[in-house]
Amino acid sequence: MTWEKQRVEGDPILLLAAGAKGAVGTTVAALVATLRHDPQEVLPWLTLPKSLTGILGKGQVCFAGWDSKEQSLLEALRSHSVLLEKNWAPLQEELQDMKVLKAPDGPLLEQTEILCAQIKELLSEHPGASPVMVDLLPACAGPSFPNCSSLEELLALDKGELPADLAYASAALRCGVPFVNFTSNQVEHPLIVSEASHRAVPICGRDGKTGQTFFKVVLASALKARKLKVTGWYSLNILGNEDGRNLSNPSKAAAKLANKTEVLEEVLGYHVGESPHETSHGVHIAYYPPRGDAKEAWDVVDFSGAFGLPMSLRLNLLARDSVLAAPLVVDLAGWMAGLKKLGRSGLVADLGFYFKKPLGEGHPRTFQEQLNALELLEREFTVRGF
Ligand SMILES: NC(=O)c1ccc[n+]([C@@H]2O[C@H](COP(=O)([O-])OP(=O)(O)OC[C@H]3O[C@@H](n4cnc5c(N)ncnc54)[C@H](O)[C@@H]3O)[C@@H](O)[C@H]2O)c1
Repeated sequence: MTWEKQRVEGDPILLLAAGAKGAVGTTVAALVATLRHDPQEVLPWLTLPKSLTGILGKGQVCFAGWDSKEQSLLEALRSHSVLLEKNWAPLQEELQDMKVLKAPDGPLLEQTEILCAQIKELLSEHPGASPVMVDLLPACAGPSFPNCSSLEELLALDKGELPADLAYASAALRCGVPFVNFTSNQVEHPLIVSEASHRAVPICGRDGKTGQTFFKVVLASALKARKLKVTGWYSLNILGNEDGRNLSNPSKAAAKLANKTEVLEEVLGYHVGESPHETSHGVHIAYYPPRGDAKEAWDVVDFSGAFGLPMSLRLNLLARDSVLAAPLVVDLAGWMAGLKKLGRSGLVADLGFYFKKPLGEGHPRTFQEQLNALELLEREFTVRGF
């Protein structure tokens, strides 16, 4: 089977993954391939509304992307050991057929130009497709951005200290491609956001909300609704995949830890801790190789009820990091392809359900608000005849 055979009839989504050979990227590739073979193996795990799964249901998603690894997509998928051989063995031909290009390097402006040319070529190979780029690059240390008046100037000033994510975002926007920031990296620089509005392209982020933080938002929202006061919350994660190894570098983990921490008070609407100067919310991430992608998380939640009497609960999550993440990436690609058609541009706040640090003005905070925002969005699609 050749790359051309990935082409499908109709109006497919072209999912362009930056970091395609990572644990999440390869799991997304397997999900997309499975969607063609047997949609019913994938559709039940998606949160997209029916009106938007229409296109996915016909297997109309193509996968392509970039990575700096030399190994093939299939070899990378095997080496992450996220999926069992029985999951990927029937998909080998499709996986071999997916086009993953070598990541450009060098100055960011040069990288952006190369990526732009490659996106245009990929689009010409898929006429009629709705492209969406998803950022799955490794977490990086928070950059200090120089003062600039234009995106071109910012990219041109780079001396290797700005994240490659900026080149992918800039190239996507230049080519009119919606952009999803699934990482904790600070891609949404004001110049990127204004470029997205100017070019009428939607962007959303930041930091996929897949496991522990998903349950934190659900539980915190429930405690808030029940008027039980959270007095302390201690969260610990152990994970042994590449992401976990990368996050063992404190400067690379800083943004992720901040996202995982700030979300609690955003939901509750009050400070957790006895005094304003100290917090009783702690979040820790530890790299623990034996777990691989099968991460484990513990939460200790202290709260009080009537008469201020203390109570406590324990949550122990045994999860699979990339298996939780991959369907959300497909969901986000579906939403963003649809939102582009609806004419939405700039930061999309309504997709807060999917992110640890939802961005955009008026983003929904509690779990109920996040579900309501998705429902309203779905209604917008129905009203507009999708
Ligand atoms: N798994 C989850 O549940 C989850 C949740 C939220 C956020 N995330 C974030 O998603 C991202 C991806 O996670 P992962 O587990 O797949 O990580 P990973 O380390 O397995 O994959 C990252 C991939 O990016 C590639 N890469 C590095 N630099 C590149 C460049 N300049 N251009 C193209 N490719 C490049 C690497 O070779 C690697 O294959 C991470 O930032 C992670 O923190 C993951």
